Amino acid sequence: RQSIESPLYNLILKASEFYQQSLRTHSTKKMAVDYFKQRGLTGVIARDFALGFAPPGWDNLIKHFEADDSQQKQLIDAGLVVESADTGKRYDRFRERVMFPIRDVKGRVIAFGGRVLGDDKPKYLNSPETPVFHKSEVLYGLYEVRKNNRHLDEILVLEGYMDVIALAQFGITNGVATLGTATSEEHIKKLFRLVNNILFCFDGDAAGRKAAWRALESALPHLQDGRKVRFLFLPDGDDPDSLVRKEGVDAFKARMSQQAQSLTDYFFNHLTEEAKPTSLEGKAHLASIVTPLLTKMPSGGLKALMYQKLEELTGLDQQHLLAIKPVASHVS
Ligand code: UTP
Ligand code: MN
Ligand code: MN
Ligand code: MN
Ligand code: MN
Repeated sequence: RQSIESPLYNLILKASEFYQQSLRTHSTKKMAVDYFKQRGLTGVIARDFALGFAPPGWDNLIKHFEADDSQQKQLIDAGLVVESADTGKRYDRFRERVMFPIRDVKGRVIAFGGRVLGDDKPKYLNSPETPVFHKSEVLYGLYEVRKNNRHLDEILVLEGYMDVIALAQFGITNGVATLGTATSEEHIKKLFRLVNNILFCFDGDAAGRKAAWRALESALPHLQDGRKVRFLFLPDGDDPDSLVRKEGVDAFKARMSQQAQSLTDYFFNHLTEEAKPTSLEGKAHLASIVTPLLTKMPSGGLKALMYQKLEELTGLDQQHLLAIKPVASHVS
């Protein structure tokens, strides 16, 4: 496996250098520079995150590499060049996009996200799965977080590239992003190896709220006592990038410290909306959706306290609660 991987790292690094160089010197660089400026990014933050530009055109990267057939095949393996299934023609995957290199924890560039400059679709194009890029395991910005924080107490989990970068520009340098995939247990395990505290802060929209609940479900099996997970919900229509620019970093920090909910508050608030314990039927319904979730938790004080809370809400004692057979209940 190593022998497949190692040449790809080099290739992807060279591509990243090409995109960065294009942002500085390409004849069409103005459109990218203007785009970043309009998003409020400084040159310094662009350099920190190694942002780049894939110029317009079908073969800038292929030409830059002066790639022969075998090297073109490697570019395809690296996800940087695409071969048309119909014609066999090969062309650059990323064209006329601003480029966000994705680094692994060791700092090696392993993939890219590329954003259109306008309103075309897809808004973000990401590298496909490759031998060095496994999307469900990667957290964008984690390398930078570790580099910039000697003492790390909490990590913020956000949705997008621009959220990580905007917060970093305002001095909040402990943000990572899941890149449009659901927060997995792999992500959670990775984070809890580094910190005891995680704060999820997704977009203030339906997708963001759904992502928060998914993250909660992934976190439950890893909630050993001493670990803390919180959730910060943003106003409708905002994401961390838009909000920190709108209201400033102090207001955003105040939100983080004052408005973030504990996992257990979010858990019971959400589920008692789903099943209101205001009737016997509601209490039984609540018990039936809460118990299967609690069984996922590791034993400990927190789990016991959550059972106790469920007892208070339903009037059912633990013996009855534990006897409830987990049914596959859909909670979203
Ligand atoms: P958003 O649409 O919230 O992105 O998707 P964003 O970062 O706020 O976008 P802009 O630049 O400010 O308009 C969140 C994340 O989901 C992934 C990207 O990783 C993005 O950062 N995504 C989104 C995709 O992979 N493809 C898409 O088409 C859209
Ligand atoms: Mn969104
Ligand atoms: Mn955004
Ligand atoms: Mn967003
Ligand atoms: Mn719901």
